Amino acid sequence: MLRQAGVPGRFSVATFSQLERVCDEQAAVITNFRRWVAGVGRGEVRSNAVLLGRTGTGKTHMSCAAVLALIRGCGIRARYVTSEQIKREVCESWGGGGESESRVLERYGAYPVLVLDEVDILDEKGPGLRVLNSVIDKRSGEQRPTVFISNQDQASLHELLGRRAVSRMFESALIMHCPWDDYRARKA
Ligand SMILES: Nc1ncnc2c1ncn2[C@@H]1O[C@H](COP(=O)(O)OP(=O)(O)OP(=O)(O)O)[C@@H](O)[C@H]1O
Ligand SMILES: [Mg+2]
Repeated sequence: MLRQAGVPGRFSVATFSQLERVCDEQAAVITNFRRWVAGVGRGEVRSNAVLLGRTGTGKTHMSCAAVLALIRGCGIRARYVTSEQIKREVCESWGGGGESESRVLERYGAYPVLVLDEVDILDEKGPGLRVLNSVIDKRSGEQRPTVFISNQDQASLHELLGRRAVSRMFESALIMHCPWDDYRARKA
């Protein structure tokens, strides 16, 4: 299950406790996110989580920690993916031979928990938006918890993804803002 989690190598052992405390707001986000993960792990929470904020604030780190905690601690088949990767898998399916497009979309609709990173990075002319809408529709229809991550705020997401997708993403969601400084800049 861990190998199929899609977690990038650099976050393969990510945990929440590795994160240094940088400000009260960040500590609160970590507390709330951990609580959400625990609720999902117990099967009590079926709503989404949305992580919005600046680059380098630990959004991907936290969400990979969440995926690993759900797999290791609760045996839940959680999965990390970027919207770009789902789109790529859909495009590759058109060549035939492997999974069909509908099978790829079904699979991403079916993970018990999905982290969808860089949700706003889409090709405007390609199938990105259609693919994203399909996955969001399937997951919200079945009330499967999804973590959406973006550098954009809610208003920009409306512009980029449309009201329909954003309305489903934010429906009863735990919304977490990450406005603190870029940790990557600090390390440099
Ligand atoms: N509070 C922290 N303590 C320790 N390491 C941190 C902290 N915040 C971030 N990092 C580290 O900084 C790097 C950047 O974090 P991450 O990739 O999670 O940022 P991000 O918010 O996803 O950025 P982007 O929006 O650019 O994708 C990672 O190596 C992560 O482990
Ligand atoms: Mg990231």
